[in-house]
Order: sequence, then C-alpha cells, then structure tokens
Amino acid sequence: MDRVRIGVLASGRGSNFQSIAEAIRRGEIDAEVAVLVCNVPGAGAIERAQELNVPHVVIDHAAFGKDREAFEHAVAAELTKCDVRLVVLAGFMRLLTPHFLRQFPNRILNIHPSLLPAFPGAHGIRDAIAHGAKVTGLTIHLVDESLDGGPIVLQKAVPVEEGDSEERLAARVLDWEHVLYPLAVKLFVEGRLTVEGRRVRIDWSGLERPSVP
Ligand code: GRF
Repeated sequence: MDRVRIGVLASGRGSNFQSIAEAIRRGEIDAEVAVLVCNVPGAGAIERAQELNVPHVVIDHAAFGKDREAFEHAVAAELTKCDVRLVVLAGFMRLLTPHFLRQFPNRILNIHPSLLPAFPGAHGIRDAIAHGAKVTGLTIHLVDESLDGGPIVLQKAVPVEEGDSEERLAARVLDWEHVLYPLAVKLFVEGRLTVEGRRVRIDWSGLERPSVP
C-alpha cells in the first residue's frame, strides 16, 4: 500500500510538526509529510521545514482579508495537489469552516493543551492555571465543526505544580505532546482508529500501549 501522505498546518514555532517529521524519519511511522502549510510568514515552522527538507508553502491568511473561505480554498487546493490523506493541525491558529472540514471527514487531527472538554480555545494552559486546576494535560482529537470538541483519540494528564507559570506548565505539557502526537499519527496511518459517534476505538494489537494518563 502507498505510504499515507500527510499535510501539516502550522502557524507558529512548529515543534509538534518537527516531532512528527522526525518520528517518520526514524521509521516509526510509515508515512510522508507531503507538505507543511504555514499561514504566518516568518514562523518558526517554516525554518524547521527547510531544515528537515520537508516541502512547505506559506499561505498568508492576511492576504485574503476577511475572506476565510478563499483562504481555506487555497489551503485545501494545496493539500489536494499534494494528494494528502491526513491533515495534522500543529499549532494552527485559524478556525476551519465546515466547508473545509467536509473535504477531510474524520481525517483531520488536532492537538490541544488541556484535558478537553476543559479549557477549550486559544489559552488552554493559561485558563487551567487561572481556574486553579490541579491537573491539566493534553488532548489529541479529530476535528469536527465544534471548537476543540471532536472525538478524542488520546489524552495525557499533567499535574499543575504549585506556583507554575504559563511557560513552565506549557513546557511540561509540550514534552508530552511530542510523545503523543506522533503516536496518534501512527495509529491513524496504520488504520487503528475507528470512530463510533463520539468514541474513537483504538486497535492496540501488537503495539506497546503508553502508560497514560
Ligand atoms: C501546542 O501547545 C499545541 O498544543 C497548541 O499549539 C502549540 C503548538 O506548538 N495547539 P508548536 O508550534 O507545535 O511548537
């Protein structure tokens, strides 16, 4: 069977993108990052793509003004051109419209730095600290039309420590993101995920199951 072609969408630093690209390079995931699409000129993800030799393209959302559909159309066209089967959102800070989502049903993964459904939105870490949560974590989920509300694939709990700053907690969560996002991509690529309503069933046969949460 052909290797699954992945399109990664990123807006920022790109460390999750790198963790997935490196897991592929190490032979842990039988797939290929066909393209990195970045919507922010100058973002760190672009430099990482250059270093990793991954094809990349910048589609600046600002150039489309308020026309979200036109921006998404350009992104979808790039993904289609690259024959992408799995779309991986890795710090992609734009909401996707139903029109885009319908083109990749149950084929878009996202990572969010909280234990969803707690603390959705752009500030998952900050909101957990502000709320006084003792435990937060990360969630990898399939993307549907809700905000950070699609079927959950993997979660990992991370304790909030006394006096944690946003940066310190985010760094501990990020360490786990770099472990679990490549794993979630591997599970998808190997056809081990079955979506039943809100529930994602995982076939762990022959795999070492991580000790989460
Ligand atoms: C991560 O914390 C992820 O949970 C959130 O955005 C951040 C992206 O980091 N969605 P990076 O760009 O992958 O380094």
